[in-house]
Amino acid sequence: MIDTGALVLLISPKGKRYLHKLDPALEAHTHDGKILMSEVAEAGYGHHVRTHMGRPYLVLKPTLYDLIKRVKRQTQIMYPKEIGYLILKMGIGPGTTVIESGTGSGGLTTALAWCVGDTGKVITYERREEFYKLAGKNLVRAGLDHRVEQVNQDITDGIQHTGADALFLDVRTPWEYLHHIPGAVIPGAMCGFLLPTTNQVCDLLRGLEDGPFCDVEVMEILVRHYKTNPDRLRPEDRMVAHTGFLIFARYMEPAEPWEPPVVEAVESLETDETTDEPIADFESVEDDQESPEE
Ligand SMILES: C[S@@+](CC[C@H](N)C(=O)[O-])C[C@H]1O[C@@H](n2cnc3c(N)ncnc32)[C@H](O)[C@@H]1O
Repeated sequence: MIDTGALVLLISPKGKRYLHKLDPALEAHTHDGKILMSEVAEAGYGHHVRTHMGRPYLVLKPTLYDLIKRVKRQTQIMYPKEIGYLILKMGIGPGTTVIESGTGSGGLTTALAWCVGDTGKVITYERREEFYKLAGKNLVRAGLDHRVEQVNQDITDGIQHTGADALFLDVRTPWEYLHHIPGAVIPGAMCGFLLPTTNQVCDLLRGLEDGPFCDVEVMEILVRHYKTNPDRLRPEDRMVAHTGFLIFARYMEPAEPWEPPVVEAVESLETDETTDEPIADFESVEDDQESPEE
């Protein structure tokens, strides 16, 4: 039995996927006919239901991957391959507070909200109202909106939130907003960026070099899918070759200015009367001194 309000993934015999929030009073409309959601609830995850035309559909519990792939989009959303890596790299887990911009359609926001759990929080800034609203709907659909604070604002005007454990920017010119990061995150926080072209990455690297950031890394992730025929196992003919570059850095508190250690003035040292050289008050050790025989 599946609870009312739970998410279900229905998969057709041809592999077409439908994501629904379960309401036993409703029907799901598919290319193969209608499915009664009360029958889906009764069947449970991992079982089949039939459409009114008799076609069997799989009933599955959606994973985070399924939720991201099913986000309704008006912007390019981040790919699961980048999202998966950045979540690990940036240490996003239960209890984490993350600041993100821009929200776009809410692909990354969905993943972050899933990972921070009920004790964490995602704060996401988006300047365009239509995307802000769309992402809000996607988050409600995924049942994750209660973990997200959406802000309909351009980060050119700053980031009001403070003390975040991590910050991620998926905007075209992130180097223009680096000066807002120190006020928004805790010292040592992981900061991440996604950029599609190398010239943008170079502009960002110049900005990060000006500090206060350290531990800078640039990378990309390639994934190749295989045809799952055990008699002719080989890669798919096509692959998504390039999506974007991931850049990571840690925000550091600026260091205190470095002062060279104070050295005692030579005049105050006792001098050798014959050579006028200062007399060392320690025993000198020759570099090439042989170590004593064992
Ligand atoms: C590529 S989309 C983000 C996609 C999102 N990461 C996802 O996975 O769905 C970039 C978004 O950043 C927003 N944006 C760009 N510059 C911004 C800024 N200065 N302040 C706030 N939002 C900004 C754009 O309006 C756009 O919606």
